[in-house]
Amino acid sequence: MERPRRLRAPLLRPLVAEVDLAPRHLILPLFVKEEGEREEVPSMPGVYRHPLKDLPRVGEAALAAGLGGVILFGVLPQEAKDPWGKGAYAEEGVVQRAIRLLKGEFPELLVIADTCLCEYTDHGHCGVVREGPLGFYVDNDATLELLAKTALSQARAGADVVAPSAMMDGQVRAIREALDKEGFTHVPILSYAVKYASAFYGPFRDAAQSAPQFGDRAGYQMDPRAGLWDALREARLDDLEGADLLMVKPALPYLDVLYALKGRFAKPLFAYQVSGEYAMLKAAALRGWLDERKAVLETLYALRRAGAQGILTYFALEAARWLKEA
Ligand code: PBG
Repeated sequence: MERPRRLRAPLLRPLVAEVDLAPRHLILPLFVKEEGEREEVPSMPGVYRHPLKDLPRVGEAALAAGLGGVILFGVLPQEAKDPWGKGAYAEEGVVQRAIRLLKGEFPELLVIADTCLCEYTDHGHCGVVREGPLGFYVDNDATLELLAKTALSQARAGADVVAPSAMMDGQVRAIREALDKEGFTHVPILSYAVKYASAFYGPFRDAAQSAPQFGDRAGYQMDPRAGLWDALREARLDDLEGADLLMVKPALPYLDVLYALKGRFAKPLFAYQVSGEYAMLKAAALRGWLDERKAVLETLYALRRAGAQGILTYFALEAARWLKEA
């Protein structure tokens, strides 16, 4: 008789386990603000908006945990925002300062900069907003220039990787050209290639205070109901435009997409376990409804199994600790 249980015996189980997970696979997202004290994000218990002065401690922790790296998001007070998101490409912008600080203190820590405008525009959209016959729209090609400026300023500050997340057509090419022209040929692009218009970004927008002031992001982010063709098309375009790493976002509701992309492109695949995924797990864990450690590690193993090389997760530090204890 076929008996799958034979391979579940204690000495066999580890031998046939294929998926592994280590701290080096994990990237910690960090929300950074200029000053004040660190504030916990209400919908993300255990996640903070960090003032710049906190970064030495956080960078140290990320390095000690052996994480793959950190990715930075800027948090600005509303009065510092404008329609063009100037804060995103300011030389003294909060992310630019954070990069210089982290890379100055911890050259061995991989620092990724999220490249987008929504945290810096007063309207909260990811690009330049204009009036059209059917209401507002985001002007794709005018935005490309600003995204390229943003990536360039991040590279100048010392970012190891730039990660465009605005979902503008042609953003990877525009950024690659700008970086190459200025001598940053060595800076890779981690592209949020396949990014859905998702309710699971809610807590992030709370954290970064970047919710759109009107309308939504359906005009540029992907429709969850679209067929796989949309994911393949987005990934193929970013591949051709010169992305070095391709990412799917959110993670757990899109495991099918991740799995479908695996091996189709000669590039590593990443997944972003987003704020809403963190919030769900955390909320259940805080109520004692889930074993946090087991549930979180299970989701991370699932992402690795589906094809993620790297995983962006707000659980990065905790997961690294759990993996060490195991
Ligand atoms: C910026 C950006 C967002 C996230 C990552 N980069 C927000 C959005 O698209 O609204 C979401 C990450 C998360 O929810 O954890 N465009």
